[in-house]
Amino acid sequence: MSRAETLWISGPVLRARPEGPFRLRESVRVGEDALLGEVIRIARDEITVQLYEDTSGLRPGVLVEGSGELLSIRLGPALLGGIFDGLLRPIAEISDPYVKPGMRLQDARVFQFKPSVRVGESIGPGQPLGEIANGSGIAQRCLVPPDQAPGRVTMIVDPGEYADDQPLCWIETPEGRQSGVAMTQDWPVRVPRPVQARLSADEPMLTGQRVIDSLFPVARGGTGAIPGGFGTGKTVLLETVAKWCNAEIIVYIGCGERGNELAGLLDEITELEDPRSGRPLLERTVVIANTSNMPVSAREASIYTGITVAEFFRDQGLHVTLMADSTSRWAEALREVSGRLGELPGEAGYPAYLSSRLADFYERAARVRTLGGEVGSVTLLGAVSPPSGDFSEPVTTHTKRYIGSLWGLDVRRAQARFYPAIHPLQSYSLVAQSLARWWHTTGCTRWQELRRRFLTLLEEEARLERMARIIGRDAMPARQRLVLLCAQLINESFLRQSAFSLNDRYASPARQAVMMRLIGSFIEGSERLLEAGVPPEAIRDAPVFRRLLRMGEEIPDGDWETFSVLDRELSATIRQLVNQAREESATAAETSP
Ligand SMILES: Nc1ncnc2c1ncn2[C@@H]1O[C@H](COP(=O)(O)OP(=O)(O)OP(=O)(O)O)[C@@H](O)[C@H]1O
Ligand SMILES: [Mg+2]
Repeated sequence: MSRAETLWISGPVLRARPEGPFRLRESVRVGEDALLGEVIRIARDEITVQLYEDTSGLRPGVLVEGSGELLSIRLGPALLGGIFDGLLRPIAEISDPYVKPGMRLQDARVFQFKPSVRVGESIGPGQPLGEIANGSGIAQRCLVPPDQAPGRVTMIVDPGEYADDQPLCWIETPEGRQSGVAMTQDWPVRVPRPVQARLSADEPMLTGQRVIDSLFPVARGGTGAIPGGFGTGKTVLLETVAKWCNAEIIVYIGCGERGNELAGLLDEITELEDPRSGRPLLERTVVIANTSNMPVSAREASIYTGITVAEFFRDQGLHVTLMADSTSRWAEALREVSGRLGELPGEAGYPAYLSSRLADFYERAARVRTLGGEVGSVTLLGAVSPPSGDFSEPVTTHTKRYIGSLWGLDVRRAQARFYPAIHPLQSYSLVAQSLARWWHTTGCTRWQELRRRFLTLLEEEARLERMARIIGRDAMPARQRLVLLCAQLINESFLRQSAFSLNDRYASPARQAVMMRLIGSFIEGSERLLEAGVPPEAIRDAPVFRRLLRMGEEIPDGDWETFSVLDRELSATIRQLVNQAREESATAAETSP
């Protein structure tokens, strides 16, 4: 392997004079502690290396040793339930979120393996060799690595317990080359794993949050961003989605939080319970943690590490959701490294390639047919923390170019403790159209129509609110007061959903559909009232309105009977108010001279 001698060093970056060939993105070891680094630039007589560990104490003159391989991470069954740094080195203890200098990979672990192929069978890249049991309920599989040439199985072990780094199967190519396949495999972090085909994203990644699923849905294999100022609820929203979404595997990247804050987060994550199985959520989660006291370059790499891990599980035919909290901290790492390299800064000091790096990340989301012929997906969700909540800053604006769904958190909603603080006018979903079919075939036949209706009412509300502040609500015509009333119902009963309410923290698609239809009936009924000359305040003051406002909190999932009682009560109230108005106008006509 090639060597180089360090000439200059600044923070996580060094320049060295090579004594042999190096490749771009090759991983290297530096100095006596064998600190991990990556070649990020090659000039004729100089290489630039980015280090993934604390470099204090390194002096010019230290030796850089090439590995000949691209910077890679080790993927395998031991990932589930683990907590790692940006390059997948295990963080041993939560109270000590540091990685020891020069530390390499995890020690081998033993898993139950059950083969599904026999000697003599032909096998190709990405195809399964057998099942791996780890006691968590998620069946993992051992696949032929995607870059392995096809061939014939010449040896396969019997069912039993094996170390995850031990070859379980030997494959011989037609040219007679033999290679062994173990449960763990290395893969370069920055290279997307190959698939047979990308599939259209036409089913939703359900989150159980009404404002997301019903108004601004995200597709399985799609992308979503959550921009929000300080303390507006990004982390709580991501955690809620992690708990309730219909993904089998969660990859959680904690990016650049302060050290003690991260320890708190890790504590919390390790305590979270999977509400469906009652088992620890961590069992089907991979946590990648960066703190600001870890080198910035590891934070920069962590995003690619996370997505590579997600793709590894996707290739086994699983649905994976990855959340990055927050991508702004990642972009800051990019800015810092770029500054050390002396690159020309662009907008707000970020390097000019910020946008293409964001694209590299979000473009790896997909629903795919795997090499093994199965369907798997990676859905990517990123929180963005724009300084002072200004959504026009570069990370937010560039992120918007690559994502399908945006959930903008609103400071005023958060201050009013209206959670989730997703503002309907600062949010959108570009995939709603293609997900309509799914909703229509799963029972909510009016999904698209009602969704549009709700959004129109919320837009009108924003306009009318301004007027209401100037002239006062009472001076507004009845039609406009009615719009405000309908919007209030949508906001309070549908968009508002407490993450801590036993009944309401999760809403199944069926419950969302029932609530949507009920609100739809209210909107239509109240229009009939308007025609009959009943003022909107009459329905607002009826007991049924209060019950509608509180239906999310009060009626649990599955209690369809109570929902239909409420529906009947609503129709009865409207009928009664209309009849009353008719009678009154008839009497008025009789008594008038
Ligand atoms: N869905 C929710 N239900 C109830 N309370 C919430 C919800 N979301 C946020 N909160 C409250 O708001 C507080 C701040 O939320 P959170 O930590 O998620 O904000 P953040 O946007 O991640 O902040 P930061 O910018 O510091 O990362 C929480 O501690 C919690 O009290
Ligand atoms: Mg946060």
